[in-house]
Amino acid sequence: MNTIGESTKALISARRRLIGGNLSISYKDPLQIVRGDMQYLFDDTGRRYLDGYNNVPHIGHCHPAVREAAAEQLSKINTNTRYLHENLQRYAEALTATLPPSLSVCYFVNSGSEANELALRLARTHTNAKDMIVLEAAYHGHTTTLIDISPYKADGPGGAGHPPWVHVVPNADVYRGPYKANDPAAGIKYAEAVAERIETIHARDARLCAYIAESCPSVGGQIIFPAGYLSAVYGHVRKAGGVCIADDVQTGYGRIGSHFYGFEQQEVTPDIVVLGKPIGNGYPLGAVITTPAIAASFNNGMEYFSTFGGSTVSCAVGLAVLETVKNTGLQAHAQQVGAALLTRLRPLADRHSLIGDIRGSGLFIGIELVTDRETLTPATEAATEVINRMRSAGVLIGTDGEFHNVLKIRPPMPFGFDDATVLVDCLDTVLGEIST
Ligand SMILES: Cc1ncc(COP(=O)(O)O)c(C=O)c1O
Repeated sequence: MNTIGESTKALISARRRLIGGNLSISYKDPLQIVRGDMQYLFDDTGRRYLDGYNNVPHIGHCHPAVREAAAEQLSKINTNTRYLHENLQRYAEALTATLPPSLSVCYFVNSGSEANELALRLARTHTNAKDMIVLEAAYHGHTTTLIDISPYKADGPGGAGHPPWVHVVPNADVYRGPYKANDPAAGIKYAEAVAERIETIHARDARLCAYIAESCPSVGGQIIFPAGYLSAVYGHVRKAGGVCIADDVQTGYGRIGSHFYGFEQQEVTPDIVVLGKPIGNGYPLGAVITTPAIAASFNNGMEYFSTFGGSTVSCAVGLAVLETVKNTGLQAHAQQVGAALLTRLRPLADRHSLIGDIRGSGLFIGIELVTDRETLTPATEAATEVINRMRSAGVLIGTDGEFHNVLKIRPPMPFGFDDATVLVDCLDTVLGEIST
């Protein structure tokens, strides 16, 4: 049992009165978080929680590099891209240096949603087409058009369904899908669905604008694509004149350990890359990076301007985050700690039949819970129970996936080996409790 204090109760009732009812609050017993420090969060009573799933504070909650960069720049000037300032150039240079040479033109915005919206505009102007291919259970943002291309929302509760120009293909999920991890051709087989959809689009006398996917679907359930999937997909898409968009909002900046960006693990170079969340470490920042050819199509006479995108402070923060990731070895750290975490998690599957699958790369890990390992029936209620019990024990993780049955582990990158032990022991205990 958690004790919910009077001030937390008052905040809950004020929120019910003042804020839209469909803004959810995590956990059965909501947390009033008042402070953060790297991979730890503190509630109003001073209790410390291990943060095992907030990936936005990528280099750590309240990291001094971000605080200092923002404070210093705020005390000088914070203005927009209509004036020249070296911060914009320095940030764009540092960012493009992390990307393949063809991705050399940047646009800065304030959120992942704004970035994906802009990516769609770029793709539409370049191809003069509208039809999109998207993955089942994908989420790309909260604007009207992005809800249309996000089956997780459009085809979920309260959704109006996706429009006819949106074509949903099955996720390349080697656990739930028809082609399994032991099939070396699984990637190519899943990509066939994209080729088939392109034929459907052509049969409607329409043309493909773009394929968009998270490089490792996170909202879809912390999925790791089989080898060769995206390169086969990109082949089909480009043959049809479409543009390939990688939504690396969740999986950029070394999170997956083996590579700096999610798309690199699939050995592809997208035409447009979308970044958000971790790149500002909590400061609102998104980025779209594309090829000179697509940028030239977009530069069609209409001015592009985002009031806060590329502001002097946001570039100072973005640069500070990027330099910290690069200079403190966080990618290698994610790879080592993530590997240790997976190694320690795997034996839990022998003890707890609820665990159907454990997968991941670096500090991007999913544990899929099922009530039956043959039918793969999602153990949605058990997953909710697990995260609530872990919250009571002081360890915060979340759920994800179409059926909300995948435990998501995506902590701030400073998450260490000792933290991994704490998380695994806590999960082991909680799974033992709920299966008895
Ligand atoms: C993969 C992905 N793309 C885009 C977004 C939208 O980002 P934002 O909430 O910053 O608008 C999200 C948010 O969860 C996301 O998970």
